[in-house]
Amino acid sequence: MHIPKDLVELIHSSARIVALTGAGISQESGLRTFRDKLDGLWAQYKPEDLATPGAFNRNPGIVWEFYNIRRLKACEVEPNPGHLALAEMEKNSERFVLITQNVDGLHTRAGSRNVLELHGNITRVKCSRNCGIITEWEEISGSSPACPKCGAKIRPDVVWFGEMLPQGILKSAMQAARESDVFLSIGTSALVQPAASLPLMAKQNGAVIVEVNLEETPLTPLVDYFLLGKAGEVLPELVRAAWFR
Ligand code: OAD
Ligand code: ZN
Repeated sequence: MHIPKDLVELIHSSARIVALTGAGISQESGLRTFRDKLDGLWAQYKPEDLATPGAFNRNPGIVWEFYNIRRLKACEVEPNPGHLALAEMEKNSERFVLITQNVDGLHTRAGSRNVLELHGNITRVKCSRNCGIITEWEEISGSSPACPKCGAKIRPDVVWFGEMLPQGILKSAMQAARESDVFLSIGTSALVQPAASLPLMAKQNGAVIVEVNLEETPLTPLVDYFLLGKAGEVLPELVRAAWFR
């Protein structure tokens, strides 16, 4: 893949870099994206049937089962060269913020430190009544666990369809986007709000927008550089060109 020289220079010299990632970056680790169909027993469901507060109220058991499988899978796979390249980018740039829509925790396992998880983390659980209990999954398990403080149902600490994002994290993400010199949108279909607005906020404030994806998205017509390819191939090359020439 050819990466334009001026982009390499820009990445090398930018003080404030922000990256927004989506399910595409974890695809090369073996995790499915949201556009892939569910398989086996789950083929009859759409993610929208399982990842909503309504689904959890009606049938917490099946929602737990779905998340237990996804959590096990996320813990079993390894970060790939795309995740590692972003951790390396953070080490080499002056100020770097990684905003992710992924709940798999792979960025942190790859060594990224300044990570804003917009949609939560699959390894944590919380009280469904929001009484304040939020903890690692290992601490509270079972097929339909109850909150030790208030007795309400315990649920995965992820954002479901129709729910608000964690407001403090979203605010930090918006601020980072507005203050960025370069904004990278990586492996995301750029469809789901409010994450999809972040590159637009960056652009309005003068940032250069770069997209890395296997296909064009609604964001593509607005970007300054579109790098067509796998995140696990494009990002290591970009980091190598910018800092390890
Ligand atoms: P999607 O599944 O919507 O999109 C994945 C994107 O990654 C697509 O644009 C693919 O073309 C691209 N892609 C796939 N493999 C890739 C690779 N190896 N390298 C680069 N790009 C690749 O996932 P998201 O955009 O993350 O929200 O979805 C956003 C949100 O929608 C999710 O966080 C989830 C879902 O509803 C919630 O659960 C709240
Ligand atoms: Zn509680």
